[in-house]
Amino acid sequence: MQLYSPKAGILTLLLLIGNLLTAQKSITSFSPNHQIVLNINIDSKGQLKYSSSFQGKPIIQASSLGFVLATPAINLSRFQLVSVDSSLTDNTWKPIWGEESAIRNHYAELKLGLKELGKSGILLNIIFRVFDDGIGFRYEFPKQDGLNYFVVAEENTHFGLTGNHEAFWIPGDYDSNEYAYTKSKLSEIDAIAVAKKEKDIAVSSLIGPSAVQTPLMLKQANGIYLNIHEAALINYPAMNLVLDKSTMQFKSQLVPDAVGNKAYLQAPFHTPWRTIIVSNKATNILASKLILNLNEPSKIQDQSWIKPQKFVGMWWEMHTGKATWQKEGGKHGATTERVKTYIDFAAANGFDGVLVEGWNVGWEDWFGNWKENVFDFVTPYADYDVNALAQYAQSKNVRIIMHHETSGAATNYERYMDTAYRFMLDHGMNTVKTGYVGKIIPRGEHHDGQWMVNHYIRAAEKTASYKIMIDAHEPVHPTGLHRTYPNWMANEAARGMEFNNAPTLGMSPDHTTILPFTRLMGGPMDFTPGFFHLQLNQFVPERKTRVRTTLCKQLALYITMYSPLQMVSDLPENYQKYPDALTFIKDLAVDWDQTKILDAEPGDYISIARKAKGTNNWFLGAITDENSRTMDFKLDFLDANSSYKATIYKDAANADWEKNPEAYTIEEKIVQQNDVLKIYLARSGGVAISLKKL
Ligand code: NOJ
Ligand code: CA
Repeated sequence: MQLYSPKAGILTLLLLIGNLLTAQKSITSFSPNHQIVLNINIDSKGQLKYSSSFQGKPIIQASSLGFVLATPAINLSRFQLVSVDSSLTDNTWKPIWGEESAIRNHYAELKLGLKELGKSGILLNIIFRVFDDGIGFRYEFPKQDGLNYFVVAEENTHFGLTGNHEAFWIPGDYDSNEYAYTKSKLSEIDAIAVAKKEKDIAVSSLIGPSAVQTPLMLKQANGIYLNIHEAALINYPAMNLVLDKSTMQFKSQLVPDAVGNKAYLQAPFHTPWRTIIVSNKATNILASKLILNLNEPSKIQDQSWIKPQKFVGMWWEMHTGKATWQKEGGKHGATTERVKTYIDFAAANGFDGVLVEGWNVGWEDWFGNWKENVFDFVTPYADYDVNALAQYAQSKNVRIIMHHETSGAATNYERYMDTAYRFMLDHGMNTVKTGYVGKIIPRGEHHDGQWMVNHYIRAAEKTASYKIMIDAHEPVHPTGLHRTYPNWMANEAARGMEFNNAPTLGMSPDHTTILPFTRLMGGPMDFTPGFFHLQLNQFVPERKTRVRTTLCKQLALYITMYSPLQMVSDLPENYQKYPDALTFIKDLAVDWDQTKILDAEPGDYISIARKAKGTNNWFLGAITDENSRTMDFKLDFLDANSSYKATIYKDAANADWEKNPEAYTIEEKIVQQNDVLKIYLARSGGVAISLKKL
C-alpha cells in the first residue's frame, strides 16, 4: 500500500508484508527538501523502531520507542498500527523579541495511531515532524476509556547512533547543569569521574558513568553534526540520556520524584518533543529554529511590556569578595548609597536596569540549610531604603531588578509569589532574577523533575499576570518555552561566568565555544559577560582565580551568547578604566532582525553577525578557544552600494588570556559589502565590531 498526498507534497510510504494484523509495516517520511529521510518499522511482534538518514548517510540506526507505566502496571512496547496520517505545514511567525524577526516553520508531519498489542489495548499516538534541519517526535496519550490517570515509570526512547562519534557532554544529573563540558568519543564518556572533580557545585544527583544531559552535541566521523535535546518541556520531567556503549544507543532516563516515579499524568496528554537537529555544517546547528518551532505560540496577549534589556548589578562585588550578601557579620553590599552609584552608572551609560542581590533579610543563613522560611521576599535590610531607591531609580529613568533567591525552597516561594510580585510593582520593578541554590523543598524533589518543571512554569505564568519579566538561575535546561512565555526571557541553567571565581573549578577557554551548541540550543542564557578586570584577586589578594579570556572576548560574548537580557557584569570602577571599550557595550543592541552565523566549530571558534532590530546597523562578535587564530570576516551580509562605519575592538598583537588579557586596540574604518576583514584573535581572545550604516 502506498499513501501519497499530492497536496502535502510529501510522500508517505506504507509497506505491508504478510497479513494485516501481524504484518511487518514500514513507513517513510521526508523533510520538505527530501534530505532527511525518516523510516518507521513495526515488526511482526509489534516492536516499533525508527531510523533516519541525512543526505543519504545514516544518522539514527533502528531505535525502539515505548513506555513503562507504573499505574496501571504495563509495558507499552508492542503495538498494532491503527492509523497513519500525514500533512505538510509551512508558515512564518514573528517572535516579539529574538535573533530573527520572522521564523519559518516548515515540516512534514506523520502521525501514527497505535494500540498496545497486549490485553491493555491502550491507545498511544506518536507524532513525527520532519523539518529540513531535523526531526521532532512526541508521544500522545489520547482521551480513551481504558486510561485516565496514569503514572510513568520510564520512557523508553532510544537514540541509536551510527558510530563512536565525538561528543560534547556534561554528566547526567537530576539537580545541576552547571558543569564544564568534556569533548570525547562516546566510548570514553565517564560521567562519574568527571563529576567527582566538580566539587563546587551546590547540589548534584548523578545518574551513572555513561549518563549525560541534553542538549547533547555530536559530530560523526563523516562530518555530520547532530544535536539531541527536547522541546516544550511541560508537566513532565527532564530527559537525561544513558549510553549503552556496546550498541552506541542512548536511552532516555527521566528525572524521578521522591519515590522514584517519573510523571503523574492524565489522558489526554502529550510528552515534550524529542529533537534531533542535523546538518553537515556546524553553522546550521546554531541557526536552527526547530526547537522554537516545536513550542506553542505565546500565551501572553498584551506583550507591550516585555522588553529586552541591558543591566548592571550589585552582584560581582559579592562574588569577588569586595562585599557580602548578608548584613550581620559581613561587608553588606546592597546599601542605599552603594546601589545609588550603580543607578548613576546605569543612567550615565544608557543601561536599563540595576540588579540588586542581598537587599533582603535572610542571607546570614541561606546556604545549604534546607529550611523553608529563609526569605520572605519583601523585607529589606535596615540599610537598604527600598522606597528611596525606587524613587531615585525612577528619577534617573532606570529600573531596579528584583532578586528572589529561594535557596531551593520552592514551596516557600510559591506561598509568597503574589505578595512578592505586588511588592515589586509597588516599587517600580518589572524584572525578577530567581534562584534555586541548594536542595529542593518539597523534600525529595529534584531541580529537573516534574514538580519543579511545573514550578518554573507557574513562576512564568504568575509573573506574566503581573507583567513581570523573569530570569531563572539553577532551573531545568530550557526547551524553547520562551516562545510560549516570552516574559521568561532568560535562564542560567549552565556553568556561567561566576564559576571563574570558584576556587577549584573555573571555565576553560573553549567553554563559550561549546555552550551555543549545547545549553543555548534550548534558549537564551543569562551568562553575565563583560568583565574588564580579569584577575579576580582585586579584593582578596590570596585568591588565585581569574577569568580565562581576553577583554575583547568579553565584548564578543555579547554577540555569540544570545540573550535578550544582557548583564554588564563588572564593577563600575573597572569599566571606568576602559571607557573606550565600554562604548561597544553602550552601543550594543539586545534585540535583532537578523542573525548570520558566519563560521563555527564546537570547541574551537564561533563568529556571528546580527542586525539590530529596526535599524540598519550590525554587530559582529567572534571568539576563539585556547588557540590564537586569524579569522576572515566577509561583510557580504551588509547592504549593497552602502558604506558603514566599522568600529573594531580587537585583541592587541601582544594580548593573551594568561599574560596580557586586557590589551586591546580600537580601529575605525569605512567598509562595504565586498570587504573582507582579516583579524587576529589572541589565545582565548575575541573581536567585537559595530557597523553603523552611513
Ligand atoms: C547563584 C546564581 O547563579 C548567582 O548569580 C547568584 O548571585 C547566587 N546564586 C546567589 O543567589
Ligand atoms: Ca548558578
